[in-house]
Amino acid sequence: MKKVLITGASGGFGTEFAIQLEKKGYALLLHGRDKARLQLTLDALQHPERHRFMLADLSSRKETEDLIDSLAGSDLYGLVNNAGFGVWGSFAAKESVAQADVIRVDLLAPVMLAHAVLPCLIRNKGFMINVSSLAAETPLPYLATYAAVKAGMTAWSEAVRLEYQGEVKVVTLAPGPSPTGFRGVSGAPKGKGNMFSTTARKIVASSLETLDAGGGYCVPGWRHKLLWSIQKITPRFISLALMARYLKK
Ligand SMILES: NC(=O)c1ccc[n+]([C@@H]2O[C@H](COP(=O)([O-])OP(=O)(O)OC[C@H]3O[C@@H](n4cnc5c(N)ncnc54)[C@H](OP(=O)(O)O)[C@@H]3O)[C@@H](O)[C@H]2O)c1
Repeated sequence: MKKVLITGASGGFGTEFAIQLEKKGYALLLHGRDKARLQLTLDALQHPERHRFMLADLSSRKETEDLIDSLAGSDLYGLVNNAGFGVWGSFAAKESVAQADVIRVDLLAPVMLAHAVLPCLIRNKGFMINVSSLAAETPLPYLATYAAVKAGMTAWSEAVRLEYQGEVKVVTLAPGPSPTGFRGVSGAPKGKGNMFSTTARKIVASSLETLDAGGGYCVPGWRHKLLWSIQKITPRFISLALMARYLKK
């Protein structure tokens, strides 16, 4: 059975990836930090006996390297780089460690994981889905580090997608707001961006349709496509000023 590693499988998009990829017949390596929450994901699956947990805090280089070591011999077919979080608020008011952890978890760990498993994905003619964000498209005051890191994620994922075209299918998934654990973890104020909110189910389904079509850059659902179009046509100085006012708590 073909194996797929999903990082951040203990909630939100990760749980939804697990549900939808299991239906496609994959055996899943479900990564997270919290075994009790991973168990909830497993409970939502039809064939729990096919899947296993992989625990690692991706803000720790040692734990990321241990996770990579433990993948040796697993003959992966797919990698979903999904784990991530943001830190909302004035840049200097937030701990520097938390800011640096956003970089480690949302960009450094995916790059390290992809680098380690790409030869295997190529051998198996498999796939990689990198979960970025529409936050990549505009600098975001009060989510500054997160938006910068997602800009890095989109640029990196799109470049790798073209480098390995024909060898590995790559999807760069760029969603906007969705009601997952993300807002609570990042400390987002209630209500911001709700008019564009799209379910995790739709977002993941859309990314898997892009995968079935051979990979690509995926902005899921009409609400996120509308938001993306607005981002594309608005001059940066205007969007920066609007965002600075809108995103302030
Ligand atoms: N929801 C949105 O509005 C939105 C929009 C655009 C992009 N995204 C992106 O979508 C991805 C998934 O987020 P989500 O919305 O599903 O949020 P979520 O419900 O909070 O899930 C985040 C996942 O990331 C894992 N994670 C967080 N910090 C980690 C760490 N230090 N080490 C290992 N795993 C860690 C969490 O696992 P544990 O807590 O169990 O460790 C959890 O499984 C993220 O990359 C996020 O940036 C979200």
